[in-house]
Amino acid sequence: MGAVGTARWPSGHRRVRRRPTLDRMAEPGPTDEVRATWDGIAPAWERHRQLVFEQFRPVSEWLVERVSPQPGQTILEVAAGPGDTGFLAAERLGPDGKLISTDLAPGMVEAVRRGAAERGLVNVESRVMDAQRLDLGDASVDGVLSRLGYMLVPDPAAAFSEARRVLRNGGRFAYAVIGSPSANDWMTVVARVFAQRGQMRTGDPFGPGGPFSLSDHDRNRALLAEAGFEHVDVTELTGTMTFESPSVYWDRQSQIGGPFPALIAALPAEEVAAVRAAVGTALDQFATGDGYVLPSSLVVAAAS
Ligand SMILES: C[S@@+](CC[C@H](N)C(=O)[O-])C[C@H]1O[C@@H](n2cnc3c(N)ncnc32)[C@H](O)[C@@H]1O
Repeated sequence: MGAVGTARWPSGHRRVRRRPTLDRMAEPGPTDEVRATWDGIAPAWERHRQLVFEQFRPVSEWLVERVSPQPGQTILEVAAGPGDTGFLAAERLGPDGKLISTDLAPGMVEAVRRGAAERGLVNVESRVMDAQRLDLGDASVDGVLSRLGYMLVPDPAAAFSEARRVLRNGGRFAYAVIGSPSANDWMTVVARVFAQRGQMRTGDPFGPGGPFSLSDHDRNRALLAEAGFEHVDVTELTGTMTFESPSVYWDRQSQIGGPFPALIAALPAEEVAAVRAAVGTALDQFATGDGYVLPSSLVVAAAS
């Protein structure tokens, strides 16, 4: 593993100190840590929603095609963030259909409500929900989709079983997660700088809840089979992400890049300036006449 191997996303690996008292149940667990991180940056995700939507639009379209929403159906979006992928599905469902847009972070759910209202989408229900424990009945939805969420879930086996449970017979499941670090410079440029400067806590980014925890195709196939899916297709969607300038890259990563906003907030101003300058230098190799073009590769899966 390269330098990014020392990067640490909220992943459920941090050892939680146990108190020998009855209040143990109230202690924050790995999922609470994930919720706090993403709730904290929900306002920034809402501000950047258009940029993120455009950058990942082909992935969203792939997912929606694979779930194939039909008028009148009910589609569930898991780990929806500000919800733009689900909105593509909602447009196809019509007034008699319903998108249930869910996320662990209440701030994201609020962003979905505002986004749906701005688009005049009246068939969107937005709810706080943990992917590992869906508050929905068995066989209650026609499709489940999720973009860039399941890799953050500490227990993906539970999350995929839940997706299977809520799907009607023949219902379709499609999701995207981050591929291997070597193919995702848009993420790792900034992580490497933090790691090289000793600013990241150690941890396994391939471990449960880590950003690359579902980057292996066979692991996805095995988890899906274990959850009861019979027809499984796992593949890679490769592309590029273009940033107008190092400033645009920095603004995006420092405001919505998972653990980075909190890391930056804890650093003295001069160290932040040094990190930012180092990120700028690291981006030089990706400069083209048409902005900074960084490789991206996502693992996408469709199952039924
Ligand atoms: C990288 S963002 C992706 C957001 C959105 N799907 C997108 O592609 O723009 C990850 C999202 O997963 C959500 N998330 C993380 N763990 C979750 C869980 N256990 N259940 C539901 N959502 C979760 C976070 O709150 C966050 O909104």
